[in-house]
Amino acid sequence: MYPLRRNRRLRTNEAIRHMVRETILTPSDFLVPLFVVEGHDVREEIPSMPNYYRLSLDNLQKEVKELWNMGLCAVLLFVKIPEELKDNQGKEALNEHGLMQRAIKAVKNACPDMLVMTDVALDPYSTYGHDGIVANGVILNDETSELLAEMSISHAHAGADFVAPSDMMDGRIQIIREALEDEELTDTGIMSYCAKYASGFYGPFREALDSAPVDSPDVPKDKQTYQMDTANRLEAIREAEMDVEEGADIVMVKPGLSYLDIVRDIREVVDIPVAVYQVSGEYAMLKAAAEKGWLDHDAVMMEQLISMKRAGASIIASYFAKDAVKLMG
Ligand code: PBG
Repeated sequence: MYPLRRNRRLRTNEAIRHMVRETILTPSDFLVPLFVVEGHDVREEIPSMPNYYRLSLDNLQKEVKELWNMGLCAVLLFVKIPEELKDNQGKEALNEHGLMQRAIKAVKNACPDMLVMTDVALDPYSTYGHDGIVANGVILNDETSELLAEMSISHAHAGADFVAPSDMMDGRIQIIREALEDEELTDTGIMSYCAKYASGFYGPFREALDSAPVDSPDVPKDKQTYQMDTANRLEAIREAEMDVEEGADIVMVKPGLSYLDIVRDIREVVDIPVAVYQVSGEYAMLKAAAEKGWLDHDAVMMEQLISMKRAGASIIASYFAKDAVKLMG
């Protein structure tokens, strides 16, 4: 008999395609990154991220209410810190009245059930634009981890449900978990960026927060001594396994599209949820191509998001979350 099988029968019409569809996106899959700034009634578009904004606390509250009403129930907070508050020790990161701490409270006040996750790393607070403390041209591992633990406690006290360390220091999950336990913050979760690659795709994000590494002879010009080498796969598996052992509740791979093999690899070795971060450069690429009329924005957006879930991520951090949910109806 020819052909042996006719696979196209399951593609004949939308009803059957829908019935046999293996991967379905829902609003609760998404984690919405939000950029917070000081000020009143601020809503500044980020030049390299069309239709994405830095928000002051009042507009942040409006935004989370809107997200909640759309079915989006988790946010990931980032703050843009004024230059004069930056140093090499992350002092401002521990300020209990700092912008992040106030942002957490603002979200919880506006929308008490919204899941709040916070970025834990020094770069927005660092005069050098690095994720850790810099000394003699290197990023100090253990001193930075201690500071990240204090920062995590500060976020948890302000009301964060999860802290999300994005720094890639060794051993920080263990130190953060122990610190949270010591403070009896046993319900505060950790979403670890376990495999975060040294990627060119973070450019627009660094513009959004003004957090790029500075160009100076005594400071590393990039993040390659802590973020991972694009070429490595086994190392990502090792990182994920270690973070699980150290106490992570969720592990995350970042960026998304170029690293979906890593998402699949990690999905197969850990028994906790795996998240993926579709980063700023991925957002910028599609927006730019769509603006030129070279790609169909909505079709390509959904294709990429579904690919991420199909690869094994059950949580997707994405700047497209609102667009996608609107399209999902
Ligand atoms: C910093 C951090 C970065 C992102 C999230 N947390 C940038 C970096 O590591 O330089 C990137 C997110 C994005 O590009 O959307 N700790």
